[in-house]
Amino acid sequence: MGHVSKTSLPAPDHATRLREALLAAAFTADGLLDLLGAPAYAALARSETVPALRATRGEAPLDTLVRLFLLQHPVASGRAAAVLPLPECVADGWLTESDGEVRASVDVRPYGGPDGQDWFIVSDLGCAVGGAGGIGSHEEGVVLGIGGASTTLAGITVRRPVATALDIGTGSGIQALHASQHATRVTATDLNPRALGFTQLTLALSGAAPADLREGSLYEPVAGETYDLIVSNPPFVISPGARLTYRDGGMAGDGLCRTLVQQTGERLNEGGYAHFLANWQHTEDEEWQDRLRSWVPHGCDAWIVQREVQDVTQYAELWLRDSGDHRTEPAEYAARYDAWLDEFEASGTKGVGFGWITLRKSVAAAAGDPSIVIEEWPHAVEQPLGPAIEAHFARQDYLREQDDAALLTGHFTLAAEVVQEQVGLPGAEDPEHVVLRQNRGMRRATKVDAVGAGFAGVCDGSLPAGRILDAIAQLMNEDPVLLRDRTPRAIRLLVEEGFLEPVPPAGRAAG
Ligand SMILES: C[S@@+](CC[C@H](N)C(=O)[O-])C[C@H]1O[C@@H](n2cnc3c(N)ncnc32)[C@H](O)[C@@H]1O
Repeated sequence: MGHVSKTSLPAPDHATRLREALLAAAFTADGLLDLLGAPAYAALARSETVPALRATRGEAPLDTLVRLFLLQHPVASGRAAAVLPLPECVADGWLTESDGEVRASVDVRPYGGPDGQDWFIVSDLGCAVGGAGGIGSHEEGVVLGIGGASTTLAGITVRRPVATALDIGTGSGIQALHASQHATRVTATDLNPRALGFTQLTLALSGAAPADLREGSLYEPVAGETYDLIVSNPPFVISPGARLTYRDGGMAGDGLCRTLVQQTGERLNEGGYAHFLANWQHTEDEEWQDRLRSWVPHGCDAWIVQREVQDVTQYAELWLRDSGDHRTEPAEYAARYDAWLDEFEASGTKGVGFGWITLRKSVAAAAGDPSIVIEEWPHAVEQPLGPAIEAHFARQDYLREQDDAALLTGHFTLAAEVVQEQVGLPGAEDPEHVVLRQNRGMRRATKVDAVGAGFAGVCDGSLPAGRILDAIAQLMNEDPVLLRDRTPRAIRLLVEEGFLEPVPPAGRAAG
């Protein structure tokens, strides 16, 4: 594929010794925060190095490591030797030495795991942070460190013990690293062989088990194999021509994301989850929901959440800035910008949606009754969202099996940390409407009427829904038969959105 690799990567042979040295010097996420302070730490995440340089003027071991591995400053060999196993680091290629100074050959960035693990992400120099700050390199095969998209995907992934996990487009290996904590066997693929090298280093330096590394496009390297978990933060950018492997899929429009999603049906084991970040076109002749629905493979349930939509100009500008094109000649910038708009015009694209796609392989879906939820939810959520995603599918399973009569015999509890808000004019006696709001998971809010609010309020699992409705009917002077008739739809919605949780028969209190 002609991926350039200017420098060869370090050998992982003495990664354990290097890890011990890094930890001994408190080169960890917490250690960094302590040394730099929150503003300089945050600035570093924006690719701004000046505050961190000022905060590391001391001679302590941690100053040395931050300067070497995060700020790409040369350090006197003697100073480095006091902190690191220098001969091994130089021999293995982590550091290069000349004129009595050493420099890092890769970026090594502390990253705190979800259970307080001290991990490290290894990536190309100057590429640790993506996003609007610009990556500072136009080289095709560069391997980036982690950005917001990486941690979002890690957060939405369902984390339960599985036998096999697959990370497609592993880059510097963050998803494979997370998966290594709950999957017996992790396979990581990338089109860019350099990325596989970085993933190996990230895993080794983080003290994680090695992964099965395979070079190739999408599912090609794992033909015929199936997995319990599949994750991918793919090169989803919809752009004219593929210039940057880490972000440009090289298929027209959203074709790479579509192909990835469509081919997942054959690659998942029964009950297995797949999580993807993706971009999709909003075209003139199709609703975006219909477009996405057509991607869902047979045999899979799906939950697709659109987090953001940008018009074509915002989108082009975002990615032109990401690759630093705004710093080129104005005429060159204008030509590139024009090319993006040409491409969008030719494909009838008005905007681009960004979001999350979760698939789950299920028996019901295979039998022709998939649960497919496609929604827009641009509001803040509680990360990690993985547990809420797993719970969504469990509730869908439950609802699929209950008709209205069955719902009325069901027992429910109000989900944790749901509050009621009354909305209306100040001083008014009665609220105009009542809103239930979750403080966990998706942090949803939903309007309810007086019956809905009253019903949710008494749901502690002890009484069946129908009995609660009868009591409410009496209290509000309503016809209980009519109330039993019209309420199941509302209950269904409250369950679907996670405000109410069904209580399995075994868990019910006597009532
Ligand atoms: C946005 S990066 C994601 C890196 C990492 N998984 C993360 O979450 O931060 C996308 C990765 O996909 C790789 N890639 C690009 N095209 C690919 C393809 N057709 N098949 C597999 N991987 C591909 C790139 O080399 C890059 O490492």
